[in-house]
Amino acid sequence: MARLLFACLLLLLLVLFRTSNCMGTNRCGNRTLSYPFSLDSDQLNFGDPLYTLHCEKNTSTVLYLDSRKYYVQAINYSNLTIRVVDAGVKENDCSSLPDFSLTYARLGNSRSAYTWLTTASSDNAIYPYTWFQYKKTGPEWHKWFPKYKPLPLSQMMIFINCANPVNSPLYLDTGACLNGVKYSNVSLSIHSYVNVGGMKASDLMETCSLERMTLLPVKDYKNMFFKEIHSLLEYGFELSWHSSSCGSCSTICYIDDSYRTHCIGGQY
Ligand SMILES: *[C@@H]1O[C@H](CO)[C@@H](O)[C@H](O)[C@H]1NC(C)=O
Ligand SMILES: *[C@@H]1O[C@H](CO)[C@@H](O)[C@H](O)[C@H]1NC(C)=O
Ligand SMILES: *[C@@H]1O[C@H](CO)[C@@H](O)[C@H](O)[C@H]1NC(C)=O
Ligand SMILES: *[C@@H]1O[C@H](CO)[C@@H](O)[C@H](O)[C@H]1NC(C)=O
Ligand SMILES: *[C@@H]1O[C@H](CO)[C@@H](O)[C@H](O)[C@H]1NC(C)=O
Repeated sequence: MARLLFACLLLLLLVLFRTSNCMGTNRCGNRTLSYPFSLDSDQLNFGDPLYTLHCEKNTSTVLYLDSRKYYVQAINYSNLTIRVVDAGVKENDCSSLPDFSLTYARLGNSRSAYTWLTTASSDNAIYPYTWFQYKKTGPEWHKWFPKYKPLPLSQMMIFINCANPVNSPLYLDTGACLNGVKYSNVSLSIHSYVNVGGMKASDLMETCSLERMTLLPVKDYKNMFFKEIHSLLEYGFELSWHSSSCGSCSTICYIDDSYRTHCIGGQY
């Protein structure tokens, strides 16, 4: 009995510490993190270890994806999204490039997003963050057959360097932003382009090479200049962390109108 009482007291103290923010470690600057997010500096970590963030100089919240650095711009706990910017992308500097290549494959696809590691060492989802959400599209008449469809939150952007000028609607010239700036020492004759909206491997012209890939918000990028596209790179792209509330769903986990997650067929 005494032991139980002691345990209860301890728990109460912990809760008090949390709410009174004595530890102060679920805060980064003016951002307060809630479950499933927590900071790696937090001693009393109640978050999901898959959603641990880092606080830099008490100003910037950082998400590391494969030890690659992304600055957190916003977290929405209602629609289960996080908006991040590659650490290499600087504000008002259209010659700044993402430091890293990030592809859809790294963030799961519709078939493998809810596959679970079955090895003894880990019981965690492979993809804590995805570039899409499955949204409910109609009334549910059976838990095995709900109506849903994948809704992309972000889309692919490709940086391409070419030895010769290219004239194609798929290739948007980066103009003065990247041409002759970044690569002036490498070769004076490199032409720098971007593609948003996708291209096939066969669309890559002969003297061109794929430089880097990253994600952008879903938008219509037709008739946009590179500078405008770059400002959207600075705004950041959205990822979904809804997997955190999907439990051990091994089928498809979709989101209903009130942003609650459901596992098709229920959980195992
Ligand atoms: C971090 O910044 C916030 C807001 O600027 C401030 O209230 C807090 O005291 C700072 N924390 C530390 C540990 O410096
Ligand atoms: C924190 O402060 C910055 C600058 O003052 C502001 O732009 C941002 O929206 C604030 N973030 C939050 C989560 O309140
Ligand atoms: C979060 O997302 C919901 C739904 O999209 C929206 O209504 C709400 O205003 C957002 N919250 C913030 C803080 O932006
Ligand atoms: C989530 O909410 C943010 C605002 O906080 C909004 O910009 C974004 O479009 C919303 N995303 C989804 C998928 O609802
Ligand atoms: C590139 O060129 C600039 C200016 O000519 C020079 O300062 C810089 O050291 C060069 N960088 C490399 C890696 O050669």
